[in-house]
Amino acid sequence: MSAKITLQTHLFKELRTMSCHKKSYITTPIYYVNDIAHIGHAYTTIIADTLARYSRMSGLDTFFLTGTDEHGQKIEEAAKTRGKTTQDYADEISATFKDLWDDFDISYDKFIRTTDADHMKGVQKAFSVMYENGDIYKDTYKGHYCISCETFFPSIQLVDDEFCPECGKSTTIVEEESYFFRLSNYQDKLLQYYEDHPNFILPKSKRNEVIRFVEGGLQDLSITRTSFDWGVKLPAEIDDPKHVMYVWLDALMNYVTGLGYGTDEAKMDYWPARVQLIGKDILRFHAIYWPAFLMSLDLPLPTHIAAHGWWTRDGEKMSKSKGNVVNPREVADAYGLDNFRYFMLREVPFGGDGDFSQKALIDRINSDLGNDLGNLLNRLIGMSGKYFEGNVDSSHVAKYYQAELDEVHAVLNTLEPLLFDMQIHRYLEELWKPLTVANKAIDKYQPWTLMKEGKEEEAMALNGLIAAILAKVSIMLSPVMPAVGKKISEALHFTIDNDSWNRMIKSSELLAPFVLEKIDPLFPRIEAPLLEQAEPIDETPKEKQEKKPEAKEAAKEEGVALIGIDQFFQTSLKVGTVVKAEEVPKSKKLLLLQVDIGEEQPRQIVAGIKEWYSAEAMLNTQVCVVANLKPAKLMGLKSEGMLLAAKDENGLCMIRPEKPKTAGTPIG
Ligand code: MSP
Repeated sequence: MSAKITLQTHLFKELRTMSCHKKSYITTPIYYVNDIAHIGHAYTTIIADTLARYSRMSGLDTFFLTGTDEHGQKIEEAAKTRGKTTQDYADEISATFKDLWDDFDISYDKFIRTTDADHMKGVQKAFSVMYENGDIYKDTYKGHYCISCETFFPSIQLVDDEFCPECGKSTTIVEEESYFFRLSNYQDKLLQYYEDHPNFILPKSKRNEVIRFVEGGLQDLSITRTSFDWGVKLPAEIDDPKHVMYVWLDALMNYVTGLGYGTDEAKMDYWPARVQLIGKDILRFHAIYWPAFLMSLDLPLPTHIAAHGWWTRDGEKMSKSKGNVVNPREVADAYGLDNFRYFMLREVPFGGDGDFSQKALIDRINSDLGNDLGNLLNRLIGMSGKYFEGNVDSSHVAKYYQAELDEVHAVLNTLEPLLFDMQIHRYLEELWKPLTVANKAIDKYQPWTLMKEGKEEEAMALNGLIAAILAKVSIMLSPVMPAVGKKISEALHFTIDNDSWNRMIKSSELLAPFVLEKIDPLFPRIEAPLLEQAEPIDETPKEKQEKKPEAKEAAKEEGVALIGIDQFFQTSLKVGTVVKAEEVPKSKKLLLLQVDIGEEQPRQIVAGIKEWYSAEAMLNTQVCVVANLKPAKLMGLKSEGMLLAAKDENGLCMIRPEKPKTAGTPIG
């Protein structure tokens, strides 16, 4: 009972703050520049864009921030692999994100880069404030670090004492002097905050996860590194130049430095954010570290941290090695940007994982969009054209169809909270109900019968009803499908903006009389998949750690940096004999090999060669092995080396010694 009262009081308080708070600040995570954008990035950005568009339309002073995360060891290494300076590399990849968002008409107000001078100043300011508050102290960090996840892990969390529990890659042991943030001091304050703000973390299931994690105990957080350079230096007054800031401290601060924190603070009145969108993999950083940093800075916390789920493709995890990564640009080009936006937002309950398949996308386009929405507009064009030379007049709608109007308005009134509670799929599901009301009204009242019976006024009112429903739906649909909203509103001779939203959604006004002209179908039927196979997109260093042959290909395209003979000899190449070979269950590409390279035990090597070599064909053959690679995990199997192979458009062939050689013979 008392929990219920707290929840209600809290919701009431939140609603009150929201209504006084006329500003709406929406953010996406900032994307690492070691990868070009894929469907996961597009999904987060499109949800945020939808919320920002709705906020603006509903009259809130809105600021929408996105950008790129460019510091840290991972980026430094990625640039090195490509033989580029880190800044050049960051510039190049950051521009690919910005270009994509521009081409996708993403309505961001600022694109922040963590290499921006203002951002770096702001982060230094934040460090100074936390330091002065006594939340930062210096000590030594000893533990494991996963470069790919840019995360420290205590030994007990590692898999097989070595591998990252998040991504499965090998971790590095770090022992270095470090500054620490007193995260442990915030455990109780955070738990109290979660309790007082039940909607802080959305969806609820994720909130419970976070609470359980924090209840398990928080350790202080290492927030500086000394073993590499590519990061924000500590503030001058701390005078410790060998340290750079931990990439997550640097990155999280973007949400306030993007508003000028620490420099020109004019936009800081947009803070706190209304919704900060993230993927579930970075929830811990946003729901634990970020609020603790904000508490230390004495800044209010965002209203919602909203974590979405993971996208797979045709039921499988996307990865470059499988060549099944969904390239958003390619999908939008083939199927239409708005259709792609609708599909992603309608298909998956927010927070759940989603599967991309062309079949599912085509079904949504043909059915929801084509049959329900597009067809209704066609019916209106048909009716008004046939009986009234295109004229639509709403004057008598209320006289004949008040029940239908009431039904439609009742639904429309419930929509906005669904959107900001991150129930976007439900928002769209509900938004389709007025379309059903409209289609049913045509079937029930039959304009052709009305006309036959001489009930012209009633038939015209039906026309007006259908047009009004289409107009109202197009307003509420426009944050999700801006181009489609615009097309429908143009056909119906009105403009979607705060004024029409106020008149037609908040009040129950209808359309002024107009003449409807024929327009091309909005959603031509799609009979077969339009993409043969989505192009694998650019190689990422993340994957490169496990996929050296393709990493080499990528480097070749961009010009490989020259190396000295010493560097070459850092790679240990050996002749190996395959003593056991089998298929990796459920994998189309992998073989599991035991390769004798003259050591006590054969090495286990997982090789992506099954498309070209059967297990039998590999057995008892000789291969060239890279013997000093850090072990990696592929499909959960440890791989302790790599085989040399050459691949061109005709396929792949192994590189083997010309004559049999003793296993373990060095190659050089
Ligand atoms: N740079 C950090 C975020 C710092 S925010 C202060 C980062 N970047 S990321 O580029 O790796 O990921 C950005 C977002 O993309 C995350 O929200 C992540 O969840 C999302 N996705 C990455 N792959 C995804 C899928 N396959 N599916 C859905 N979203 C995914 O993390």
